[in-house]
Amino acid sequence: MLPSDLINHKNHSKKIIALTAWDSITGSIAEAAGADIVLVGDSLAMVALGHKTTLPLTVSNIINHTNAVSRGFQKNIDHQPLLICDMPFLSYQCGEDRAIEQAGRVIKETYAKGVKLEGAEPEVKRVISRLVRMGIPVMGHLGLTPQSYLNQGLKKQGEKEYEQTKIKEDALFLEDIGCFALVLEHIPNFLAKQIKENLKIPTIGIGAGTYCDGQIRVTADLIGLTDKQPPFSKPLVSGKKIFIKTLKDWVDSERLN
Ligand code: KIV
Repeated sequence: MLPSDLINHKNHSKKIIALTAWDSITGSIAEAAGADIVLVGDSLAMVALGHKTTLPLTVSNIINHTNAVSRGFQKNIDHQPLLICDMPFLSYQCGEDRAIEQAGRVIKETYAKGVKLEGAEPEVKRVISRLVRMGIPVMGHLGLTPQSYLNQGLKKQGEKEYEQTKIKEDALFLEDIGCFALVLEHIPNFLAKQIKENLKIPTIGIGAGTYCDGQIRVTADLIGLTDKQPPFSKPLVSGKKIFIKTLKDWVDSERLN
C-alpha cells in the first residue's frame, strides 16, 4: 500500500487502524494484529529510550528504530502495513533545504513510505509543500503536538473558539498542499467531526473521539507497558504487571532450584 491508497479507505468508509512500533518485536506484533499503518512515532523517545519528552529524539534514532520495525515485519512487502515515521523535533524547522535533506535521509535509509510532521506554522507548511513536490509523502499532525511541549504542555487543544477556527483552517491548508492524511490529537470530538467532514483526505484520531476516519494509538499505552497513560488511551491489559509477575515467578523458582 502507498500513502495515496489510504484515501480509498475513506471513500469506502473503511476504518483506518494505526499502531506505533519502535523495534522489531513491536513491528511484528503490530503487523500481526492487523494494523493498516505502523507509525514509528517520536513517542519512542519516551516509550523506548526513557526520555521525559519527545524532544531529544534525533534523525539517526528514528532511522535505526524504523529499520528495526521493518525487519520485524513478516509478511511479503506488498502485504505489510504502511510504514510511516515521525520527523524529530528541529529536524524540519531549521530551513527548507535542511528539512528536505533530513526527510530524504529517512526515506533513503529506511523502508518508510512517508513521514509525519507536527504543526502548521508557516515554516512547516512551506517544508511540507516542498517535501510533497519532491516526492516525499507527508502525514500532518494537528491538535496536541507533543513537540510543542515547552509551549503547550500536553493539554487538550481546540477548547477555545479561535483555536478551533485555526485548527480547521490549518487542516484545510495541509490538505491543499498535499498531505495524504492528518493525525488529530486530543481535540474536542465535535471539532474532529467537522474537520473529517470538511476534508477529502483521511483523519486519524487519538483522543479526538470516534468520528475520525481512523484511530491511532501508542502501542505501549494500549498494552499497559507505560507507567502513566494519557487520559484518552486507557490500557487494555496491564502488560507491565503481567510481565513482571511472569519473570518474578521464574526468578523465584530458579532461586529455589
Ligand atoms: O509519536 C507518536 O507516537 C505519535 C502518535 C501519538 C500519533 O505521534
